Amino acid sequence: MPSPIDQDPFKAWKFLVLPTLKVSDVFSLFLKATIAICTVVSISLVFYSFLNPSQRLPCPECNKILISDHRKIINGEVSGYSYEKTNISHILFGIGGSAKTWNKRRHYTEVWWMPNITRGYVWLDQNPPGNDTWPLTSPPYKVSADTSRFKYTCSYGSRSALRIARIVKESFELGLENVRWLVMGDDDTVFFIENLVTVLAKYDHNQMYYIGGNSESVEQDAIHSYTMAYGGGGFAISYPLAKELVRVLDGCLDRYASFYGSDQKVQGCISEIGVPLTKELGFHQVDIRGDPYGLLAAHPLAPLVSLHHLDYVQSIFPGLSRFDSVNKLITAYKTDPGRTLQYSFCYDLTRNWSVSASWGYTIQLYPALLTAMQLQTVFRTFRTWRRWSEGPFTFNTRPMNVDPCLRPVVYFLDRVERFGDGTLTTYKRSEDELDKVCDRPDYAPVYAVQLVNVITSTSLKPDIWNMAPRRQCCEVINGENRMSSMVQVNIRGCNEMESVTPP
Ligand SMILES: *[C@@H]1O[C@H](CO)[C@@H](O)[C@H](O)[C@H]1NC(C)=O
Ligand SMILES: *[C@@H]1O[C@H](CO)[C@@H](O)[C@H](O)[C@H]1NC(C)=O
Ligand SMILES: *[C@@H]1O[C@H](CO)[C@@H](O)[C@H](O)[C@H]1NC(C)=O
Ligand SMILES: *[C@@H]1O[C@H](CO)[C@@H](O)[C@H](O)[C@H]1NC(C)=O
Repeated sequence: MPSPIDQDPFKAWKFLVLPTLKVSDVFSLFLKATIAICTVVSISLVFYSFLNPSQRLPCPECNKILISDHRKIINGEVSGYSYEKTNISHILFGIGGSAKTWNKRRHYTEVWWMPNITRGYVWLDQNPPGNDTWPLTSPPYKVSADTSRFKYTCSYGSRSALRIARIVKESFELGLENVRWLVMGDDDTVFFIENLVTVLAKYDHNQMYYIGGNSESVEQDAIHSYTMAYGGGGFAISYPLAKELVRVLDGCLDRYASFYGSDQKVQGCISEIGVPLTKELGFHQVDIRGDPYGLLAAHPLAPLVSLHHLDYVQSIFPGLSRFDSVNKLITAYKTDPGRTLQYSFCYDLTRNWSVSASWGYTIQLYPALLTAMQLQTVFRTFRTWRRWSEGPFTFNTRPMNVDPCLRPVVYFLDRVERFGDGTLTTYKRSEDELDKVCDRPDYAPVYAVQLVNVITSTSLKPDIWNMAPRRQCCEVINGENRMSSMVQVNIRGCNEMESVTPP
């Protein structure tokens, strides 16, 4: 039986009007034409400016087009240039570690570190005990230079912040070739490398960029700063910015002696250069306590770049250790990096259900039609970092009720299979939840569902992040059997005029 969305009257209408061309074809033709026109216009603009040296940049609008077209403006002159796409080899990592804790925490680096592919070092406070047995699966280490000459006056912090703030300088001064970005992280930061590359590749590394994310916790942002990238979530500094930062850093550290963390000290110094933070929503400091479920189940529309503080929150998968949980998420990530934690929701109108899918992690089934606004709001399964209070956070939350009649039925990732360029991911109810049952009759057919299968026919390509963001759509397929033990959900790009709107 066709899904309710297939019965959309607009689809039939489209078919009548355009018997041979699909709407997507028309759109792609239109896109191609637009690109062609833009290319001709920009090429002729460049020609024009070469032919008439006195009349470069005849109007402010042209200036804007050229800048957005990745052409550099030096002293008002346009010089066209191009470069190869940024890849993993262009990134130099600087991980802030310590000799004593490395062995305890190294698995959070080793899950993403690719020996001989990823470049960089973990910076230690001293030589590790027995340094000839340094694990090959870890990044090579270096011992940071002495920082005793710098001031540190924050009463509740640690002087190691100074050492870690200088990693960017010590990394830069190694003089390694072909480095476009210096990426800083903690020894418990898990990076999702492919997505990090996707995000950095959006920016011109020949310009000065400082990229990262804030803390989720308003109290943290208020105490420290809203203008800084939180170091545990990781942050990226482009080479030209690093070059200027290295010049001012040592002189600047004493001015910010009262700042608690290395990340805030670095931001203080960058503010002297005048470069603001470019926020990317995929960097996660994870300044929360308790269960991170809600946060991960409603990830913003941006590639997942990092997770942090995983030893301070509950396991992201129930019944698995913290470390096994990360590995499980990574199995999904490896099959479709860009789609990891991307969510979509849809209705099953044959049963009046809402389905919310956070790809590679969790499915929520509700025996009711919730609004898109409700479904996209983060479940508050966690508390704030410092006070363990209910908020506030830098995003809106809704309570996760203890009453099983007021919460969705939740499924967690079980299996991942590649399926051509697409994937089949399977989700199961967690054992912990099996006893939490709502007696209302509308919940019975939901509990009958043992498995949710999610199908995608293509991977989410990095180019999608260069376009205007839009959540993907989904549809529930075999929705006709009232007591079916399996639900199938297809996730795909949205059609024109498609929305999550109840009838
Ligand atoms: C990254 O790009 C450079 C060119 O700038 C190339 O030499 C290098 O092989 C590439 N590395 C990978 C891993 O693709
Ligand atoms: C990395 O490269 C070095 C030399 O190029 C080699 O000896 C080493 O085995 C490689 N390590 C891994 C994990 O591939
Ligand atoms: C560790 O390496 C350093 C040089 O990097 C060396 O001076 C020191 O003796 C080594 N320590 C041990 C225990 O091997
Ligand atoms: C779904 O909800 C609508 C509106 O509340 C109602 O008219 C319809 O009968 C319901 N359908 C099912 C299958 O429960």
